[in-house]
Amino acid sequence: MLRPPETFATARLTARRPRAEDAPTVFAAYANDPDVTRYLSWAPYTRVELLADFLRDRAADWERPTSQHYAWLLCLRGTDSPIGSIGLMPDGGKVMCGYVLAKKFWGRGMMTEALTAVVEWTIAQTDVYRVWAYCDAANLASVRVMEKSGLTRETLLRRWHVSPNIGAEPRDCIFCAKVK
Ligand SMILES: CC(C)(COP(=O)(O)OP(=O)(O)OC[C@H]1O[C@@H](n2cnc3c(N)ncnc32)[C@H](O)[C@@H]1OP(=O)(O)O)[C@@H](O)C(=O)NCCC(=O)NCCS
Repeated sequence: MLRPPETFATARLTARRPRAEDAPTVFAAYANDPDVTRYLSWAPYTRVELLADFLRDRAADWERPTSQHYAWLLCLRGTDSPIGSIGLMPDGGKVMCGYVLAKKFWGRGMMTEALTAVVEWTIAQTDVYRVWAYCDAANLASVRVMEKSGLTRETLLRRWHVSPNIGAEPRDCIFCAKVK
């Protein structure tokens, strides 16, 4: 049974459980930004209340003995103000990662830092054999983050994922993984 730590730190970031009260900060930092959500499966939030509900659900995941979704909010070290999020979705010996960062902080290696830490912790766990992630084939920054974080590009699956912010048709996606 995978039980990730509730907090972890990297050189520049701390990661902690979400709280419903984070909603206004998360909303302003990235969750209502169409550039951030462009390739994601969710449209930008237009109401803080709905985001608070989502964060409340993610907080509740941590209360269960075992969960299918563990999400952290990422804050710059020395602050408690979220600038992004990273999460794990365990499925037996396979664990999927997802991540998002406020636009203001793109291009500084921040998500590589966070994803590297998460990948290294996860693949080191007993009974985890595959840590993986995927993204829209056009999301080249995300492909690069996966590769820089220790995942190896495996394949491109055509017509895999609908990005509602782009259109209703499923789009091609690139899959990367670290296995042992
Ligand atoms: C994808 C995302 C997480 C990247 O975070 P980040 O902290 O900016 O990433 P890093 O700085 O660690 O690395 C980005 C890499 O992508 C490269 N890159 C950025 N834009 C690029 C582009 N258009 N084409 C090719 N490479 C690009 C950067 O040069 C860098 O690689 P390098 O270190 O070799 O130069 C961030 O842009 C984001 O949150 N996007 C919106 C949400 C999202 O798409 N999440 C992923 C869903 S699968």
